[in-house]
Amino acid sequence: MCGIIARVGYTDAVNELMVGLKNLEYRGYDSAGIAVTDGTQIDVCKTHGEIGALRSALKARSLTGAVGIGHTRWSTHGPPTDANAHPHTDDTGRVCVVHNGIINNHEALRTELQAGGHTFTSETDTEVVPNLIAAGLREGRSPEDAFRDAIERLEGSYAIAALIEGSNTVYATRNGSPLVLGLGEETSFLASDVPAFLEFTDRVIYLQDDDVAIVRPEGFELTALDGTPVDRDIRTVEWDANDTSKAGYSHFMRKEIDEQPTSFRQTIEGRTADGTVELESLPPGEFADTREVVFVACGTSLHAAMYGARLFHRRGIRATAIRASEFAHDPVPLDDRSLVIAVTQSGETADTLGSLRVANETDARTLAVTNVVGSTAAREADDAIFIRAGPEIGVAATKTFSSQVGVLALLAERIAVDTDADPGNPAVLETLAQLPEHIQAVVDSPATAQLAERYRHADAYFFVGRGVGYPVACEGALKFKEITYDHAEGFAAGELKHGPLALVTPNTVVIALFTGRNDHLTLHNVEEARSRGASVIGIGPESSTDVQAAVDEYLSVPSVHPELAGILINIHLQLLAYHAANLRNRAIDKPRNLAKSVTVE
Ligand code: M6R
Repeated sequence: MCGIIARVGYTDAVNELMVGLKNLEYRGYDSAGIAVTDGTQIDVCKTHGEIGALRSALKARSLTGAVGIGHTRWSTHGPPTDANAHPHTDDTGRVCVVHNGIINNHEALRTELQAGGHTFTSETDTEVVPNLIAAGLREGRSPEDAFRDAIERLEGSYAIAALIEGSNTVYATRNGSPLVLGLGEETSFLASDVPAFLEFTDRVIYLQDDDVAIVRPEGFELTALDGTPVDRDIRTVEWDANDTSKAGYSHFMRKEIDEQPTSFRQTIEGRTADGTVELESLPPGEFADTREVVFVACGTSLHAAMYGARLFHRRGIRATAIRASEFAHDPVPLDDRSLVIAVTQSGETADTLGSLRVANETDARTLAVTNVVGSTAAREADDAIFIRAGPEIGVAATKTFSSQVGVLALLAERIAVDTDADPGNPAVLETLAQLPEHIQAVVDSPATAQLAERYRHADAYFFVGRGVGYPVACEGALKFKEITYDHAEGFAAGELKHGPLALVTPNTVVIALFTGRNDHLTLHNVEEARSRGASVIGIGPESSTDVQAAVDEYLSVPSVHPELAGILINIHLQLLAYHAANLRNRAIDKPRNLAKSVTVE
């Protein structure tokens, strides 16, 4: 949801800014721009379109400067035009800003600034920021004070980096949107996310809300908004820069699907020792007081949470998965025996953070299940468990879904034992340990590509499942619609006959999921669709011969514990969506209108 980068050093900044923007492109790709300074004036180059368009625009310009800022945009205020592209300057060009987030009070600020003689050239909320800073400068404040005073006036969420004419300094701050400081030998970076600069440095400081970073070639200062010094740990990121490259693949999504045997192994490694669940800083007995679990999450993470809730039910634990965009404004009652689990790959999704904050204000305990160490969710929840899937760049979440479900399966076992709800199920732990090799078998299967081709001209794709198959059906449909732009919906198999069956025609493809539990019921639902002319692709255990005989096509997965079969089935669905999107020549890693990390409500 917009990516920002800043680079401060002694040599020319343009190349590293462009590398950073390319690495952040998954956060938005409506427009892009950079601004650089040599310590005197500021030069800006920006354009609508993707980073490639900016690269072409730069060829016609000679931008040089050792200090710079850059932005890749996911539009919120104003369409993706050149004028709305960041960086934005004040009306004199002395102050230049990149921003990720939303300034809620921008209209009031714009009216006030216009009354003071400032003119505006874009429709964005951001443009008030450089003008506010410039107004402070005009009133005689120092650049630092003008920056701080301007930020004090903002309401909303923001990560901001600013250049001010006449110095080689970047002024930056955040509130509700991520911002990381990267510390190289002679070069420093600020960015929305670590992959932006990971090939230049792995030493980072995760800035917290209201931290102000003032970064110069010779060093940096960190203070609170009121100027009081703050001390933040420098951490070394464990991710490797190669993890954030395509490594010969044509799409990140395909690379990330293929990585799942490894990423899932990392997720469970060291966590299933001797038939018990080890969760680092959360020792056995830690959840003894938990009476109910409430998951909050969005999109793919919500589907993982829905899957998790079903696993908790199987262990006798009360659990509900609620859309974070709903929970944040309509929470359910919580008490000191409630455990609220925020499931979020990025740890930065605004709706999920909103829900987490609502829960933090109650007596409930909160836990983040996330992929990103240092993310806002990890810092704001009482505890965090990391899914350890490695960086995921494709907008379509794939390997992180598998790893989220893996962690939730471990948590279900642990909480069952801690609360005496159930003695735990050793078969589930054994299956988890074996899953990487089964995942490999599914990833290697060529059958999905053939089916994507055979059924490419259908009018609609309906995904149906029951039990843990239902969230997987929802996830399969989300992935399919997200990257193919074709009509796809996920239903609980038993619900088909309560309405959606009216949509089924001979040109509908029903993708029916069989986990090995209650499959006979799903077969009835499949028959209802088949008798209306739909083609049915079944996906389920290789041992289910009765199911294979009842569908038009069958994709098999190794026969594993039914509670975990959904992870394997989902990988076929990821591949189905991927191949279907490839056949339609879609922008698989950057689907239209979407962004990887949605940091606005
Ligand atoms: O970072 P999060 O897991 O919180 O993101 C939540 C959703 O925005 C995300 O899962 C989205 O639905 C995916 N792009 C779908 O593939």
